Amino acid sequence: MMRKYLVTPIVMMLVTMALYAQNTLSYVPDPKIEQRVEKTLSRMTLEEKVGQMTELAIDVLGHMEGDRFVLDEDRMEYVFMRYKVGSILNTPGAVSQSPQWWQSAIRTINDYSLRACGIPCVYGLDQNHGTTYTLGGTLFPQNTNMGASFDADLARQAASITAYETRAANCPWTYSPTVDLSRDARWPRVWENFGEDCLVNAVLGRAMVEGFQGTDPNHIDKYHIGTSVKHYMAYGAARTGKDRTPTYVPEWELREKHFAPFKACVEAGATSVMVNSGSVNGIPMHVNAKYLTQWLKEETGWDGMIITDWADIENLWKREMVAANKKEAIIMAINAGIDMAMEPYNLDFCDLLIEAVNEGRVPMSRIDDAVRRVLRMKYRMGLFDMPNTDIKDYPKYGSPEHFKAAQDAAVQTMVLLKNNGILPLAQGKKILVTGPNANSMRCLNGGWSYTWQGKDADKFASEHNTILEAMQQRFGMANVIYEAGVTYNNDGPYWAENEPQIERAVQAAAGADIIVACVGENSYAETPGNLDDLALSANQRDLVKALASTGKPVVLILNEGRPRLVSDIEPLAAAVVDILLPGNEGGNALARLLAGDDNFSGRMPFTYPRHSASLTTYDYRVSEETGTMQGVYDYNAQVDVQWPFGYGLSYTTFEYSNMHVDKTDFTAGDVLTVTIDVKNTGRMAGKESVLLFSRDIVATIVPESRRLRAFTKVELQPGETRTVTFTLPANDLAFVGNDGLRHLEPGEFLLQIANKSVRLNCR
Ligand code: BGC
Repeated sequence: MMRKYLVTPIVMMLVTMALYAQNTLSYVPDPKIEQRVEKTLSRMTLEEKVGQMTELAIDVLGHMEGDRFVLDEDRMEYVFMRYKVGSILNTPGAVSQSPQWWQSAIRTINDYSLRACGIPCVYGLDQNHGTTYTLGGTLFPQNTNMGASFDADLARQAASITAYETRAANCPWTYSPTVDLSRDARWPRVWENFGEDCLVNAVLGRAMVEGFQGTDPNHIDKYHIGTSVKHYMAYGAARTGKDRTPTYVPEWELREKHFAPFKACVEAGATSVMVNSGSVNGIPMHVNAKYLTQWLKEETGWDGMIITDWADIENLWKREMVAANKKEAIIMAINAGIDMAMEPYNLDFCDLLIEAVNEGRVPMSRIDDAVRRVLRMKYRMGLFDMPNTDIKDYPKYGSPEHFKAAQDAAVQTMVLLKNNGILPLAQGKKILVTGPNANSMRCLNGGWSYTWQGKDADKFASEHNTILEAMQQRFGMANVIYEAGVTYNNDGPYWAENEPQIERAVQAAAGADIIVACVGENSYAETPGNLDDLALSANQRDLVKALASTGKPVVLILNEGRPRLVSDIEPLAAAVVDILLPGNEGGNALARLLAGDDNFSGRMPFTYPRHSASLTTYDYRVSEETGTMQGVYDYNAQVDVQWPFGYGLSYTTFEYSNMHVDKTDFTAGDVLTVTIDVKNTGRMAGKESVLLFSRDIVATIVPESRRLRAFTKVELQPGETRTVTFTLPANDLAFVGNDGLRHLEPGEFLLQIANKSVRLNCR
């Protein structure tokens, strides 16, 4: 009996491993690099190896003199000569620096590192939506906007320009892209990734890896940078909706959804992966050998490097309480598969890890494996052959060409959610521009912009236009009136507002024909961005209500990192646009769209909730919605959202016809070819995201309502028709069961594109 119980899980585990274990990488390691890695490793002492596994924050290396950061010789000696530290991160004083400053600082750091052990240092920056920490560069829309574009080429291009501008500052590595799934509207990091869906995160994440790194993962040239895909995994599904709190997700959902974008990115050759700071199903991700080593490294064959998030080894014993002290925490994390520790301020990591190795508690083979991965990444970045770049090779840094690319990108990411015909705005009308987000670069950019919390964007981005400035330029100074009505208190927490002056805005509306009310959120990042109430602030809703009561049409502009509830003011608006966090060129992009110079083509990258206690995602299980009952058992069990995932309007209309699938019966090995005609039936050229959803009608796990299986974007002139073709491996329709295996069960499936659908049968 005993044996039976033991054997079954073991057999299941072996079957699962065998089924998933295959090298699925899209590249083959370069044997010359592998030889150089081995040669370097063979010469290293244990101290040097452990040093290469350590990353410190730059603050440790110097001190501030006024607002200038200066590297101290004695600290540099200590960190590099004594400890041979392999990596440095972050910006000094938490404020963006000029590329010239970075050029010289990173060159000095490399000089020390090369003198200490002949190995260049790898510097890492959070260039999260463009040049977060390098002044004067290009800030693109945040990733949530990129998700709204449903356009992989756009994401690739933004990453490629960011890579160029990051290397211009002599920095070879970014902690991007973020491919967490935003499964909870309350989470303060919703805007950092491509939305709630795993396919969108996988496709756009992979495109960004290619854009950052270039096409050959073995050889990242001087115009490209290495990536750290983050935060592995299930970070965006915390039960409380708050940052760095525990997630509980069944393993089949982890496998099917949260793992998918990381898999896609490492298969594309991402140089590194950063780990989710929190715990999943009770186990901190940083000590989970199964997910770090087995799933991420062994099953895929991936040879990249895993780095912790900020101080997360420290957090294992100070916050998560799974280790009694730091040494235990280090042993657990390194044995689980961590290759580099982001230990911002402490070098005791090195001393304790050396002790642990000498005591036999971390095998030397694990250390060698970690260091190989670190060295491989440095070789692939070309750092051994060219540790530094020359700023003269980057004439396009912060150029009009790059700013224009950011503006064109922003145009494609704004979502038109409602339009009674008032948009595009007629020329020559008087427009009241109002609301706390109307005249703020901070609001357009969100967090990770010049500083971590994004507070100083108005100081550093003054050459770019706020919404107000862009509206004045596009519609004429004389036609634009400005009265904020509500303002943020920029010295307080992100949600703090000053005493509202709603009456002044109402008075200003008397002189206007149209009201453009810009509301939403001020910038924040991570834990400081936690919230207690998902509704848009009461002041802002009161402002919109007061303005609507004037009888003048209100165009509601939502500028926010996550969906704040607007169900009481949406009915008052003649039009609604969610611009999300469109970056430095967002003001200009919005003015172009409101004027009708360009067409809207963004779609919601997440489900926009209507009610605070009804949070869901588009791929909810069918049993969440059982309909309505009348009479004695009067109830309403319907999913009721403000705007669904994938929703977005345009100034033109599209008609779908002739949906066709080449097989009506299929089996697992088949590839389905799905075609559909899309016609622009309006009067303006426009881009349309074509989304292919599936539904498994009956399944042994309660089926999902819908699941996105493929998407593309087409541009159509008025009257033009295009046939869109999707090639869909039938196996993509499978789900992961409780046994961890993929199942494609016989029975009926529905494929759906817009208002068309086809039923198929799996044999
Ligand atoms: C964040 C990461 C970031 C890291 C380094 C952490 O607090 O969670 O996203 O890459 O800091 O700045």
